[in-house]
Amino acid sequence: MKSLVSFLILGTTLIFAQASIDLRQRRSIDLSASHALIPDARLPKDVIPTNYIINIRPNMEEGSFTGNIKMNLSWNDDTRKISLHAHFELNIEDVKIRKIDTKKQSEADSGPPNYLPIQRTDRVPKKTVYEIYLKDALKQGSQCELEMSFTGRIWETTEGLFKGNYIENSGEKKYYLATYMRPHNARRLFPCFDEPGFKVPYTVSISRPRNYTTLFNTPLNYTEELNDESNYVVDHFETTPPMSSFTFGFIISQLQEIPINRTINETAKPLIKIWARTDIHDGLQEIFEKVLTIYDYLEEYFDTAIPLCKLDIVAVPGLLSMRPADNWGLIVFKESEFLKKGYFGLTQELIYQWLGSWVTPYWWSDAHVNKALASFLASNAVIDIDQGTEFNGKYPMTVLYSLYYEFSKRYPHSRITGMKQETTSFKTELVMRMLNYTLGKDTFKNGIRKFIADRHFSTFFGDDLWDALTKQAHADKTLCQETTINEIAGSWITKDRLPVICVRRNYQEKSVKISQKVYLRERPHDVPEQDKMLWWIPIVHDCPEQFELRKFPLHQFIIINPEEIGPFPVNYDEKNWNLLADYLQTEKLADKDTDLYKS
Ligand SMILES: *[C@@H]1O[C@H](CO)[C@@H](O)[C@H](O)[C@H]1NC(C)=O
Ligand SMILES: *[C@@H]1O[C@H](CO)[C@@H](O)[C@H](O)[C@H]1NC(C)=O
Ligand SMILES: *[C@@H]1O[C@H](CO)[C@@H](O)[C@H](O)[C@H]1NC(C)=O
Ligand SMILES: *[C@@H]1O[C@H](CO)[C@@H](O)[C@H](O)[C@H]1NC(C)=O
Ligand SMILES: *[C@@H]1O[C@H](CO)[C@@H](O)[C@H](O)[C@H]1NC(C)=O
Ligand SMILES: *[C@@H]1O[C@H](CO)[C@@H](O)[C@H](O)[C@H]1NC(C)=O
Repeated sequence: MKSLVSFLILGTTLIFAQASIDLRQRRSIDLSASHALIPDARLPKDVIPTNYIINIRPNMEEGSFTGNIKMNLSWNDDTRKISLHAHFELNIEDVKIRKIDTKKQSEADSGPPNYLPIQRTDRVPKKTVYEIYLKDALKQGSQCELEMSFTGRIWETTEGLFKGNYIENSGEKKYYLATYMRPHNARRLFPCFDEPGFKVPYTVSISRPRNYTTLFNTPLNYTEELNDESNYVVDHFETTPPMSSFTFGFIISQLQEIPINRTINETAKPLIKIWARTDIHDGLQEIFEKVLTIYDYLEEYFDTAIPLCKLDIVAVPGLLSMRPADNWGLIVFKESEFLKKGYFGLTQELIYQWLGSWVTPYWWSDAHVNKALASFLASNAVIDIDQGTEFNGKYPMTVLYSLYYEFSKRYPHSRITGMKQETTSFKTELVMRMLNYTLGKDTFKNGIRKFIADRHFSTFFGDDLWDALTKQAHADKTLCQETTINEIAGSWITKDRLPVICVRRNYQEKSVKISQKVYLRERPHDVPEQDKMLWWIPIVHDCPEQFELRKFPLHQFIIINPEEIGPFPVNYDEKNWNLLADYLQTEKLADKDTDLYKS
């Protein structure tokens, strides 16, 4: 056991069992290795997009689409190569590129477009990367407009643009087209820089059959009639705020907006609308009220409205995907999921409008922090809004005990690789819960507010969240100046193990010795370097009455980590276990947490 540091925080004694010196150096919590399931080629950063203008023309009947894209590109470095994403099922034609003269004010003066010669275009084998080689390199600071046409097929799997159907109560079969771009399916629909870190404004127009409605990230600007035989019209949408390709989305359907039975102050927040088939409209008034409650709660928690003038929430029958598509300003739910009771699912998706769409993880290894935070804040909201009725007292124990089980195995995650991301995310959520309790909910909330306020329309790394919490905790004096949340969180998140705390009381000396070691359940315990694994552990204690940790009477038990504030089990000396057992047998414990964990 190393030295113990003890802080008095909000009346609770908090001891961080301090880890070795090298852990104190600030370092990045790097989880890229645990995200092997996103084996994506990262694009170079020497040519980056600043703007997209996209026109998409789906053909519902034939199950195909055509389109064209113009993008403005900016040269960060001298190069003749442009690399961007395009799925191999997406055909690309008519690639044209022209230089934008930044000095000339008027486009009209520049005469006919002066296209730059292209030497060749290429697809990187086995990667969804498309490369354009110019004949001559362009200098750093150059700007160009790149134009491409594309064609592709519409599938029924929920990746990219897909087609689905459902049957109305009348027996009529209805079709719809919808998109699912997360994590990197935008490249199936149009060529683009398909990484969350590239956030640019999109100006989009989409064709649809006349008797359908298209919902997109932003509101409709105007509808253009076509002078042709087809039954199609073109909707032009307002330009989006800067956003990542994975939050791009639209749906073309005959679903209807539910009538709203009350007036809403449209200047105060985005206009929220729910869309569903008319058959179920009657039951949705209540859900609409729920959505407004959640929105107001989140706006207060984050201390800011989302910068959009509308938010459409769509319930789609017969959608295959499990997870809703949380496009910015357009959340698409599977109808059966949307109709589920409770607040958690809805809250989580609404949170992604702030965390994810507006403030976006820079890369998918940071997305687990985002997911954990969204899940933690959704739980927090559920507890605040309906006193946790929805969880029935089970949060977070169900998750917690499965983590104890997994991490204490001889080989954690040995069977399912995808599970590692899931458990890392759960563990991160429990670390957030630990911080919410130990730093206090106000420090935690104000830290999140600061984190959001500093990163509007931009991206973040996992560390930025921990930094924001550190700054807030230092300002609120809920964390000593020498310690950072980054190192505390890092000690938990980077290891595939959890600690067990051993509490040994010396009843003669009236002292307590607390030590930590790796929690291992299965033998043999041949985990390499296990002596070097150390965690920053908050020691929160409880005893039947209010005693200071070092002064409680010998006949009283102590409980360390009540309600499992930190995700770790605790073992005591035998006498303390017996004192506890006596207490449990004699006292009424109806409202006490009796989930004591004995290893
Ligand atoms: C690119 O920039 C030029 C000049 O600023 C502008 O006229 C054009 O519309 C832009 N194109 C895109 C795709 O944003
Ligand atoms: C919409 O238009 C298509 C094509 O003209 C037609 O087949 C379909 O019956 C129309 N649907 C409705 C609901 O009007
Ligand atoms: C709507 O379209 C008009 C005409 O193209 C354009 O001038 C205007 O900027 C657009 N409005 C928005 C909000 O995008
Ligand atoms: C609507 O909200 C705005 C901004 O919060 C406020 O100034 C205005 O008074 C509100 N209007 C009504 C009718 O409540
Ligand atoms: C609107 O409908 C909801 C749910 O049925 C109800 O609780 C609420 O009182 C209604 N509001 C008005 C203004 O009628
Ligand atoms: C966060 O902490 C507060 C008390 O500090 C508590 O009321 C709230 O339930 C905690 N949130 C979660 C999700 O545990």
